[in-house]
Amino acid sequence: MASTTMHPDQQLALMRQAIEEQLQARALHERQPQGLFAPIDYTLRLGGKRLRPLLCCVATATFSPEWQRALPAAAALEIFHNFTLLHDDLMDRSPLRRGQETVFRRWGDNTAILSGDAMSIEAYASLAEIEEKALLGVIVPLFSQMALEVCIGQQLDMEFETRSEVCPEEYMEMIRLKTSVLLGASLQIGALIGGAQPSDALRLYEAGVQLGLAFQIQDDLLDVYGDEQTFGKPIGGDIIHAKKTLLLLYTLEQLQGDALSELRSILALSPEERAGKVDRVRQLYDEAGTRTYAEGEVQRLTDKAFSLIDQMELREEGRSLLLALFHTLSGRTK
Ligand code: IPE
Ligand code: IPE
Ligand code: MG
Ligand code: MG
Ligand code: MG
Repeated sequence: MASTTMHPDQQLALMRQAIEEQLQARALHERQPQGLFAPIDYTLRLGGKRLRPLLCCVATATFSPEWQRALPAAAALEIFHNFTLLHDDLMDRSPLRRGQETVFRRWGDNTAILSGDAMSIEAYASLAEIEEKALLGVIVPLFSQMALEVCIGQQLDMEFETRSEVCPEEYMEMIRLKTSVLLGASLQIGALIGGAQPSDALRLYEAGVQLGLAFQIQDDLLDVYGDEQTFGKPIGGDIIHAKKTLLLLYTLEQLQGDALSELRSILALSPEERAGKVDRVRQLYDEAGTRTYAEGEVQRLTDKAFSLIDQMELREEGRSLLLALFHTLSGRTK
Protein backbone atom coordinates (compact mmCIF):
# COMPACT_ATOMS: atom_id res chain seq x y z
CA MET A 1 0.00 0.00 0.00
CA ALA A 2 1.22 3.49 -0.92
CA SER A 3 1.08 4.61 2.68
CA THR A 4 4.37 2.85 3.50
CA THR A 5 6.43 5.45 1.66
CA MET A 6 4.28 8.48 2.14
CA HIS A 7 4.99 11.32 4.56
CA PRO A 8 2.36 11.38 7.35
CA ASP A 9 1.09 14.82 6.29
CA GLN A 10 0.61 13.60 2.75
CA GLN A 11 -1.19 10.52 3.98
CA LEU A 12 -3.44 12.65 6.18
CA ALA A 13 -4.24 14.84 3.15
CA LEU A 14 -5.19 11.72 1.22
CA MET A 15 -7.46 10.61 4.04
CA ARG A 16 -9.03 14.05 4.22
CA GLN A 17 -9.77 13.92 0.50
CA ALA A 18 -11.37 10.48 0.84
CA ILE A 19 -13.50 11.78 3.74
CA GLU A 20 -14.72 14.71 1.59
CA GLU A 21 -15.68 12.29 -1.17
CA GLN A 22 -17.46 10.03 1.28
CA LEU A 23 -19.50 13.01 2.55
CA GLN A 24 -20.24 14.26 -0.98
CA ALA A 25 -21.46 10.80 -1.97
CA ARG A 26 -24.43 11.32 0.35
CA ALA A 27 -25.67 13.80 -2.30
CA LEU A 28 -27.23 16.17 0.18
CA HIS A 29 -27.38 18.96 -2.40
CA GLU A 30 -29.96 17.07 -4.47
CA ARG A 31 -32.16 15.44 -1.88
CA GLN A 32 -35.69 16.75 -1.40
CA PRO A 33 -36.97 18.82 0.21
CA GLN A 34 -33.95 21.13 0.00
CA GLY A 35 -35.45 23.12 2.88
CA LEU A 36 -34.31 20.21 5.04
CA PHE A 37 -31.16 19.11 3.21
CA ALA A 38 -29.62 22.39 1.95
CA PRO A 39 -28.65 23.54 5.49
CA ILE A 40 -26.98 20.15 6.02
CA ASP A 41 -25.09 20.41 2.74
CA TYR A 42 -24.16 24.03 3.60
CA THR A 43 -22.74 23.00 6.98
CA LEU A 44 -20.76 20.06 5.68
CA ARG A 45 -19.33 22.16 2.84
CA LEU A 46 -18.10 24.86 5.23
CA GLY A 47 -15.17 22.59 5.94
CA GLY A 48 -13.75 22.39 9.39
CA LYS A 49 -10.74 20.42 10.49
CA ARG A 50 -12.37 17.00 9.96
CA LEU A 51 -10.63 15.91 13.14
CA ARG A 52 -13.05 13.16 14.15
CA PRO A 53 -13.17 11.31 10.81
CA LEU A 54 -9.37 11.63 10.56
CA LEU A 55 -8.99 10.13 14.04
CA CYS A 56 -11.21 7.27 12.92
CA CYS A 57 -9.28 6.55 9.71
CA VAL A 58 -5.94 6.87 11.47
CA ALA A 59 -7.06 4.52 14.24
CA THR A 60 -7.97 1.94 11.61
CA ALA A 61 -4.51 2.48 10.10
CA THR A 62 -2.87 1.71 13.45
CA PHE A 63 -4.15 -1.87 13.16
CA SER A 64 -4.65 -2.46 9.43
CA PRO A 65 -3.34 -1.11 6.12
CA GLU A 66 -6.94 -0.88 4.91
CA TRP A 67 -7.92 2.45 6.44
CA GLN A 68 -10.52 3.03 3.71
CA ARG A 69 -12.73 0.55 5.53
CA ALA A 70 -13.27 3.23 8.13
CA LEU A 71 -14.81 5.75 5.72
CA PRO A 72 -18.53 5.08 6.38
CA ALA A 73 -17.91 5.35 10.13
CA ALA A 74 -15.65 8.36 9.62
CA ALA A 75 -18.41 10.14 7.69
CA ALA A 76 -20.92 9.16 10.39
CA LEU A 77 -18.73 10.77 13.07
CA GLU A 78 -18.32 13.99 11.07
CA ILE A 79 -22.05 14.20 10.30
CA PHE A 80 -22.85 13.59 13.95
CA HIS A 81 -20.34 16.27 15.01
CA ASN A 82 -21.91 18.74 12.57
CA PHE A 83 -25.36 17.92 13.94
CA THR A 84 -24.14 18.86 17.42
CA LEU A 85 -22.79 22.14 15.99
CA LEU A 86 -26.18 23.08 14.47
CA HIS A 87 -27.91 22.57 17.79
CA ASP A 88 -25.01 24.03 19.81
CA ASP A 89 -25.07 27.27 17.82
CA LEU A 90 -28.79 27.57 18.40
CA MET A 91 -28.36 26.92 22.13
CA ASP A 92 -25.36 29.29 22.38
CA ARG A 93 -27.07 31.90 20.10
CA SER A 94 -23.83 32.03 18.13
CA PRO A 95 -23.95 33.94 14.83
CA LEU A 96 -20.78 32.57 13.22
CA ARG A 97 -19.43 29.09 12.44
CA ARG A 98 -16.39 28.36 10.28
CA GLY A 99 -16.44 32.01 9.28
CA GLN A 100 -20.01 31.88 7.93
CA GLU A 101 -23.47 32.62 9.22
CA THR A 102 -24.83 29.83 11.43
CA VAL A 103 -27.80 27.75 10.25
CA PHE A 104 -30.29 29.11 12.78
CA ARG A 105 -29.35 32.69 11.81
CA ARG A 106 -29.68 31.98 8.11
CA TRP A 107 -32.73 29.69 8.04
CA GLY A 108 -34.31 30.06 11.49
CA ASP A 109 -34.52 28.03 14.69
CA ASN A 110 -36.88 25.37 13.35
CA THR A 111 -34.57 24.57 10.45
CA ALA A 112 -31.59 24.26 12.80
CA ILE A 113 -33.59 21.83 14.92
CA LEU A 114 -34.99 19.67 12.13
CA SER A 115 -31.94 19.65 9.85
CA GLY A 116 -29.90 18.80 12.93
CA ASP A 117 -32.25 15.92 13.75
CA ALA A 118 -31.96 14.66 10.18
CA MET A 119 -28.17 14.78 10.47
CA SER A 120 -28.13 12.63 13.56
CA ILE A 121 -30.23 10.03 11.70
CA GLU A 122 -28.05 10.35 8.61
CA ALA A 123 -25.04 9.65 10.82
CA TYR A 124 -26.49 6.27 11.81
CA ALA A 125 -27.32 5.51 8.17
CA SER A 126 -23.70 6.10 7.22
CA LEU A 127 -22.40 4.06 10.15
CA ALA A 128 -24.53 1.09 9.08
CA GLU A 129 -22.71 1.07 5.74
CA ILE A 130 -19.46 -0.34 7.12
CA GLU A 131 -18.58 -3.61 5.45
CA GLU A 132 -17.87 -5.39 8.73
CA LYS A 133 -21.56 -5.99 9.51
CA ALA A 134 -20.64 -8.29 12.37
CA LEU A 135 -19.07 -5.32 14.17
CA LEU A 136 -22.26 -3.28 14.09
CA GLY A 137 -23.55 -5.05 17.20
CA VAL A 138 -20.59 -3.59 19.09
CA ILE A 139 -20.12 -0.28 17.30
CA VAL A 140 -23.74 0.93 17.25
CA PRO A 141 -24.14 0.72 21.05
CA LEU A 142 -20.78 2.51 21.48
CA PHE A 143 -21.93 5.23 19.12
CA SER A 144 -25.27 5.57 20.91
CA GLN A 145 -23.66 5.78 24.32
CA MET A 146 -21.28 8.46 23.06
CA ALA A 147 -24.18 10.38 21.47
CA LEU A 148 -26.19 10.34 24.68
CA GLU A 149 -23.16 11.44 26.69
CA VAL A 150 -22.70 14.43 24.36
CA CYS A 151 -26.31 15.43 25.10
CA ILE A 152 -25.68 15.09 28.84
CA GLY A 153 -22.55 17.24 28.53
CA GLN A 154 -24.43 19.89 26.57
CA GLN A 155 -27.19 19.92 29.20
CA LEU A 156 -24.60 20.41 31.98
CA ASP A 157 -22.92 23.18 29.96
CA MET A 158 -26.25 25.03 29.82
CA GLU A 159 -27.12 24.39 33.46
CA PHE A 160 -23.72 25.74 34.53
CA GLU A 161 -24.46 29.08 32.78
CA THR A 162 -26.92 30.01 35.51
CA ARG A 163 -25.22 28.23 38.40
CA SER A 164 -22.89 30.42 40.46
CA GLU A 165 -20.77 27.68 42.01
CA VAL A 166 -19.16 25.18 39.67
CA CYS A 167 -15.90 23.49 40.61
CA PRO A 168 -13.08 22.62 38.18
CA GLU A 169 -13.82 18.87 38.55
CA GLU A 170 -17.40 19.47 37.41
CA TYR A 171 -16.12 21.46 34.45
CA MET A 172 -13.73 18.65 33.47
CA GLU A 173 -16.55 16.10 33.64
CA MET A 174 -18.80 18.38 31.57
CA ILE A 175 -16.20 18.74 28.78
CA ARG A 176 -15.40 15.02 28.94
CA LEU A 177 -19.05 14.46 28.07
CA LYS A 178 -19.75 17.25 25.58
CA THR A 179 -16.48 17.00 23.63
CA SER A 180 -14.04 14.27 24.62
CA VAL A 181 -16.13 11.13 24.29
CA LEU A 182 -16.67 11.89 20.60
CA LEU A 183 -12.92 12.06 20.00
CA GLY A 184 -12.45 8.92 22.06
CA ALA A 185 -15.19 7.03 20.21
CA SER A 186 -13.73 8.12 16.87
CA LEU A 187 -10.47 6.37 17.77
CA GLN A 188 -12.17 3.38 19.37
CA ILE A 189 -14.51 2.72 16.45
CA GLY A 190 -11.68 3.17 13.94
CA ALA A 191 -9.54 0.71 15.90
CA LEU A 192 -12.31 -1.90 15.99
CA ILE A 193 -12.79 -1.60 12.22
CA GLY A 194 -9.05 -2.14 11.85
CA GLY A 195 -9.39 -5.41 13.77
CA ALA A 196 -8.06 -4.25 17.13
CA GLN A 197 -8.73 -6.21 20.29
CA PRO A 198 -11.42 -4.49 22.39
CA SER A 199 -8.83 -3.73 25.09
CA ASP A 200 -6.58 -1.92 22.59
CA ALA A 201 -9.54 -0.03 21.15
CA LEU A 202 -10.40 1.04 24.69
CA ARG A 203 -6.87 2.32 25.28
CA LEU A 204 -7.17 4.47 22.17
CA TYR A 205 -10.54 5.69 23.47
CA GLU A 206 -8.82 6.80 26.66
CA ALA A 207 -6.09 8.60 24.72
CA GLY A 208 -8.84 10.32 22.70
CA VAL A 209 -10.57 11.44 25.87
CA GLN A 210 -7.38 13.09 27.17
CA LEU A 211 -6.83 14.70 23.79
CA GLY A 212 -10.44 15.89 23.84
CA LEU A 213 -10.06 17.54 27.23
CA ALA A 214 -7.02 19.44 25.93
CA PHE A 215 -8.97 20.24 22.75
CA GLN A 216 -11.90 21.80 24.62
CA ILE A 217 -9.67 23.86 26.93
CA GLN A 218 -7.86 25.13 23.83
CA ASP A 219 -11.27 25.96 22.32
CA ASP A 220 -12.14 27.90 25.48
CA LEU A 221 -8.81 29.75 25.23
CA LEU A 222 -9.45 30.63 21.59
CA ASP A 223 -12.92 31.91 22.51
CA VAL A 224 -11.16 34.57 24.61
CA TYR A 225 -7.79 35.08 22.92
CA GLY A 226 -8.35 33.90 19.35
CA ASP A 227 -8.65 35.82 16.12
CA GLU A 228 -12.21 35.78 14.79
CA GLN A 229 -11.08 35.55 11.16
CA THR A 230 -8.92 32.50 11.78
CA PHE A 231 -11.05 30.84 14.47
CA GLY A 232 -14.23 31.34 12.41
CA LYS A 233 -16.30 31.81 15.56
CA PRO A 234 -17.13 35.00 17.51
CA ILE A 235 -14.61 35.95 20.19
CA GLY A 236 -15.99 36.51 23.70
CA GLY A 237 -19.15 34.42 23.36
CA ASP A 238 -18.28 32.28 26.37
CA ILE A 239 -17.75 35.38 28.52
CA ILE A 240 -21.01 36.96 27.33
CA HIS A 241 -22.96 33.81 28.20
CA ALA A 242 -21.13 33.29 31.52
CA LYS A 243 -19.97 29.86 30.39
CA LYS A 244 -18.26 28.15 33.28
CA THR A 245 -15.01 27.50 31.45
CA LEU A 246 -11.81 26.48 33.19
CA LEU A 247 -10.57 30.02 32.53
CA LEU A 248 -13.41 31.57 34.46
CA LEU A 249 -13.29 29.03 37.31
CA TYR A 250 -9.54 29.41 37.73
CA THR A 251 -9.80 33.21 37.70
CA LEU A 252 -12.49 33.09 40.38
CA GLU A 253 -10.19 30.94 42.50
CA GLN A 254 -7.19 33.22 42.05
CA LEU A 255 -8.63 36.71 42.39
CA GLN A 256 -9.25 38.37 45.73
CA GLY A 257 -10.68 41.62 47.07
CA ASP A 258 -11.96 44.25 44.63
CA ALA A 259 -10.99 42.33 41.52
CA LEU A 260 -12.97 39.30 42.68
CA SER A 261 -16.00 41.44 43.57
CA GLU A 262 -15.83 43.10 40.19
CA LEU A 263 -15.76 39.76 38.36
CA ARG A 264 -18.66 38.49 40.45
CA SER A 265 -20.70 41.61 39.68
CA ILE A 266 -19.99 41.19 35.94
CA LEU A 267 -21.25 37.61 36.19
CA ALA A 268 -24.47 38.87 37.76
CA LEU A 269 -25.25 41.01 34.67
CA SER A 270 -27.45 39.87 31.79
CA PRO A 271 -25.68 38.53 28.69
CA GLU A 272 -26.58 41.76 26.82
CA GLU A 273 -24.95 43.85 29.54
CA ARG A 274 -21.92 41.55 29.69
CA ALA A 275 -21.28 42.05 25.97
CA GLY A 276 -19.56 45.35 26.84
CA LYS A 277 -17.38 43.70 29.48
CA VAL A 278 -15.43 41.17 27.43
CA ASP A 279 -12.22 43.22 27.38
CA ARG A 280 -12.42 43.84 31.13
CA VAL A 281 -12.91 40.14 31.87
CA ARG A 282 -9.94 39.34 29.66
CA GLN A 283 -7.86 41.81 31.73
CA LEU A 284 -8.98 40.08 34.92
CA TYR A 285 -7.98 36.72 33.43
CA ASP A 286 -4.56 38.17 32.65
CA GLU A 287 -4.22 39.55 36.18
CA ALA A 288 -4.91 36.08 37.54
CA GLY A 289 -2.38 34.38 35.26
CA THR A 290 -5.19 32.34 33.79
CA ARG A 291 -3.94 32.10 30.24
CA THR A 292 -0.62 30.60 31.28
CA TYR A 293 -2.40 28.17 33.59
CA ALA A 294 -4.84 27.01 30.91
CA GLU A 295 -2.11 26.65 28.30
CA GLY A 296 -0.23 24.50 30.79
CA GLU A 297 -3.30 22.31 31.25
CA VAL A 298 -3.64 21.88 27.47
CA GLN A 299 -0.02 20.76 27.34
CA ARG A 300 -0.35 18.43 30.34
CA LEU A 301 -3.42 16.68 28.91
CA THR A 302 -1.90 16.45 25.43
CA ASP A 303 1.21 14.84 26.93
CA LYS A 304 -1.04 12.37 28.74
CA ALA A 305 -2.68 11.41 25.45
CA PHE A 306 0.75 10.96 23.85
CA SER A 307 2.01 8.77 26.69
CA LEU A 308 -1.04 6.50 26.48
CA ILE A 309 -0.23 5.92 22.83
CA ASP A 310 3.47 5.44 23.48
CA GLN A 311 2.65 2.43 25.64
CA MET A 312 0.70 0.69 22.87
CA GLU A 313 1.80 -1.75 20.24
CA LEU A 314 0.64 -0.23 16.97
CA ARG A 315 1.57 -0.51 13.29
CA GLU A 316 4.42 1.97 12.85
CA GLU A 317 2.78 3.82 9.95
CA GLY A 318 -0.40 4.15 11.96
CA ARG A 319 1.48 5.42 14.98
CA SER A 320 3.26 8.14 12.99
CA LEU A 321 -0.07 9.21 11.48
CA LEU A 322 -1.63 9.38 14.90
CA LEU A 323 1.25 11.42 16.29
CA ALA A 324 1.20 13.72 13.24
CA LEU A 325 -2.54 14.25 13.67
CA PHE A 326 -2.18 14.97 17.39
CA HIS A 327 0.63 17.43 16.57
CA THR A 328 -1.63 19.40 14.20
CA LEU A 329 -3.68 20.29 17.30
CA SER A 330 -0.82 21.60 19.43
CA GLY A 331 -0.96 25.38 19.43
CA ARG A 332 -3.89 25.36 17.03
CA THR A 333 -5.46 28.74 16.24
CA LYS A 334 -8.67 27.45 14.61
C1 IPE B 1 -15.91 22.57 17.59
O1 IPE B 1 -15.20 21.50 17.09
C2 IPE B 1 -16.66 22.12 18.79
C3 IPE B 1 -15.79 21.75 19.92
C4 IPE B 1 -15.80 20.58 20.44
C5 IPE B 1 -14.91 22.74 20.50
P1 IPE B 1 -14.03 21.71 16.02
O2 IPE B 1 -13.07 22.73 16.50
O3 IPE B 1 -13.48 20.37 15.68
O4 IPE B 1 -14.83 22.31 14.79
P2 IPE B 1 -14.57 22.14 13.22
O5 IPE B 1 -15.26 20.87 12.82
O6 IPE B 1 -13.10 22.10 12.95
O7 IPE B 1 -15.24 23.35 12.62
C1 IPE C 1 -18.59 22.38 22.08
O1 IPE C 1 -18.84 23.41 22.94
C2 IPE C 1 -19.40 21.15 22.36
C3 IPE C 1 -20.30 20.71 21.28
C4 IPE C 1 -20.53 21.35 20.17
C5 IPE C 1 -21.01 19.46 21.50
P1 IPE C 1 -18.73 24.93 22.44
O2 IPE C 1 -20.04 25.59 22.54
O3 IPE C 1 -17.56 25.57 23.11
O4 IPE C 1 -18.37 24.77 20.90
P2 IPE C 1 -18.15 25.97 19.89
O5 IPE C 1 -17.09 26.85 20.49
O6 IPE C 1 -19.45 26.66 19.73
O7 IPE C 1 -17.68 25.29 18.64
MG1 MG D 1 -20.95 26.91 21.05
MG1 MG E 1 -21.84 25.19 23.53
MG1 MG F 1 -16.27 27.04 22.26
